[in-house]
Amino acid sequence: MEIYLDNSAETKIDDDVLKAIENTYKNYYGNPSSLHRLGEKSLDFLDLQKNKISKILNCKTSELIFTATGTESINLAIKGLINSQKKHIITSAIEHSSVFESCNFLKNLGFKITVLGVNKEGFIDLEKLKNAITKDTALVSIQYVNNEIGTIQNIKEIYNLCKSCKILFHSDACQAAYEDLNMKNFDLLTLNGNKLHGPHIGLLYSKEGIKLEPITHGGGQQNNKRSGTEDLPYICGFRLALEKISENKSEESNKIKDLRDKLVKGILEIENTYLIGPKENRSCNNASIVFKGLSADSLILSLSDNKVYVSSGAACASRFKRASHVLNAINLDKNDRESSLRFTLSRYTKEEEIMEAVRIIKKVVDELRR
Ligand SMILES: Cc1ncc(COP(=O)(O)O)c(C=O)c1O
Repeated sequence: MEIYLDNSAETKIDDDVLKAIENTYKNYYGNPSSLHRLGEKSLDFLDLQKNKISKILNCKTSELIFTATGTESINLAIKGLINSQKKHIITSAIEHSSVFESCNFLKNLGFKITVLGVNKEGFIDLEKLKNAITKDTALVSIQYVNNEIGTIQNIKEIYNLCKSCKILFHSDACQAAYEDLNMKNFDLLTLNGNKLHGPHIGLLYSKEGIKLEPITHGGGQQNNKRSGTEDLPYICGFRLALEKISENKSEESNKIKDLRDKLVKGILEIENTYLIGPKENRSCNNASIVFKGLSADSLILSLSDNKVYVSSGAACASRFKRASHVLNAINLDKNDRESSLRFTLSRYTKEEEIMEAVRIIKKVVDELRR
């Protein structure tokens, strides 16, 4: 039995989504920009996908920008403000590297960047955010759900504060598939398909009227906001993946949360382990656990030998061996920063897999501690 518990790094593609992508490749191969009939057919199909996505997200089709990845969407949301009159950006200490690096890019061009610290559970303090705002603040970029410890920020309050100060609010929602995705609460929002059982594609929601300088120049597609032929098969796949997750959101997230709680309960029976991250307002699929005295890398490899697949910290970067800035930011005991594992479940996780994973984890920890 292969037990995949690394769904914040990548999700398995949904079978229907895969079929929809194949169908689009086969039937809508005309370029939506071509004048002929097949081009028109593809353009209509593209419009249909956009219509459906905009209904789910409660926004206009003209507010959707498709990109290649979450990283690209985040780059566009932040670097797109390069010509803004105001030159101050506020972000948090637990953002994805694409947020930090986009901010650093603007910092080198004269922007001021404020990085807000977080508490032990990963939450920013609204008072501190309020105090950090100046007349020159153009943007607040705070992620919706943290990819390492599952913290769900108080998005509505952050948005209201930004609105009252006439500041733009961007949120990286790449890990927020099971949260409320109503674009009324955002100016800019980033999603990616591969975290919701869809294809590798990024989406940026950008509220009407926001002037973003494009970072990809070329044929002027997507109203000149992101040049390059639209990836119709992946847009269709993304639409279906988003639709499926939105239709069964509360039922599915409750099921995932129950299994996650069983996993945590089972693992915490092991001596010298503890859960990190929030007790409440935590992503339904995330469990981050410290195994005192053990190296996360040894645990990952031993679990992998037993067909249990997990990560430490941010899996998308874990091969690059960066210390986790999130664990630093929550001020985790220094001795435990190399000893934490992240378990992330999905709609495909089964109860018997959780039971078997707990058994294997207990065995592996016992062997490594001997
Ligand atoms: C919170 C978060 N933001 C952004 C990204 C980047 O997404 P992508 O890998 O599609 O560029 C990730 C990827 O893991 C993520 O977890």
